[in-house]
Amino acid sequence: MPDRIADRAALDFVLTLRRRWADRLYPHLRDELEAATAGVPLSRHPRALAAQVHSLPAYAWFAWVERGSQKMLWRAVGDSVSGRQASGVRRQADAGPASLTLDPAVELPGWYTEWDIHLQPGGVWSDDTAALVYELGAKLVMLGENDDYKFHRLFVETAVPPRHYRRIVDLGCGFGKSTWPLKKAHPQAEVIGIDLAAPCLRLAAQRASAQGLDIRFRQANASSTGLEPGSADLVTSTMLLHETPVAELPNLLDESARLLAPGGVLRFLDFQLTGDAFRDLAMIEHGERNNEPFMAPMMAHDLTAIAADAGLVNARWRAFDERSEGLLDALAWPPRRDWHFPWAVLEAEKRT
Ligand SMILES: C[S@@+](CC[C@H](N)C(=O)[O-])C[C@H]1O[C@@H](n2cnc3c(N)ncnc32)[C@H](O)[C@@H]1O
Repeated sequence: MPDRIADRAALDFVLTLRRRWADRLYPHLRDELEAATAGVPLSRHPRALAAQVHSLPAYAWFAWVERGSQKMLWRAVGDSVSGRQASGVRRQADAGPASLTLDPAVELPGWYTEWDIHLQPGGVWSDDTAALVYELGAKLVMLGENDDYKFHRLFVETAVPPRHYRRIVDLGCGFGKSTWPLKKAHPQAEVIGIDLAAPCLRLAAQRASAQGLDIRFRQANASSTGLEPGSADLVTSTMLLHETPVAELPNLLDESARLLAPGGVLRFLDFQLTGDAFRDLAMIEHGERNNEPFMAPMMAHDLTAIAADAGLVNARWRAFDERSEGLLDALAWPPRRDWHFPWAVLEAEKRT
């Protein structure tokens, strides 16, 4: 948490605004839609609802607060992270049990650098403070539901089959919060985190070392990791698919299938449409307002077919409840009034 009172006040304000948006404004907008369409069944196609939703009295507020509060969040977080902290991370990045392999020749694809994903100015890759800004932003966005990174622990505890893994590869590991719980739950496994962003990887290694975790962090494109074929029993990703353009998804799944040994498992945590047209429209537009251009196209594509084309079997999606249960049995979420992400896990296996 930031030290300065002004920074804390700015963050408190933004977080309160975001909670109100999710807990009050979103259900209010749904109520307005239901009142406006009383008794008339709603279309199941989210885009078909758009004109009606956009004409509701609360919509302009809803849309503005969503985008405006995200911009305010990065501004407030950016103000509270200092360059001094970033150089501290840089100094300590390879001091400890975790290891870091950066590739100065790695190519950052145009689609990766063109967009300020999540509206974070400069993205997570541009300079050394970027990763710290992302770390604090990500922690605050999920505050209350993500104490001590509960969300990623739940993924590992409920979505990853309990087995003896020799090598686990976490694709798009960011600053490592998806990778640490994999190593904690499977200490015998060699755990490798892959990301394109050097600043994130430095922070990931520093934070892993501080926890005594022996994890290998490696800079590479998740679609061409350079790791040996058939060398992993488990390939994971969390929140990578919706940051991947549709044209790139087959390459990502091909690489995952290439990495997996026979009988190995793939578990990717991301989002899926729910069949609730109002909620799905809000999610599609969330991607648009939040500068996540690949989110809606990813959700519209059949990833199970892409996984099957990559040679994986039993590909299916299951819902994920980030508050309590974790992985659910089917692609169906418990009812809830507030705005929240439609988390889901893509599961597949490599034939034995
Ligand atoms: C939303 S973050 C998720 C990070 C982490 N998995 C988590 O759950 O906190 C997505 C990460 O994927 C990385 N990324 C996106 N496309 C990638 C690619 N093709 N190869 C490697 N990393 C990628 C980004 O740099 C970013 O760190």
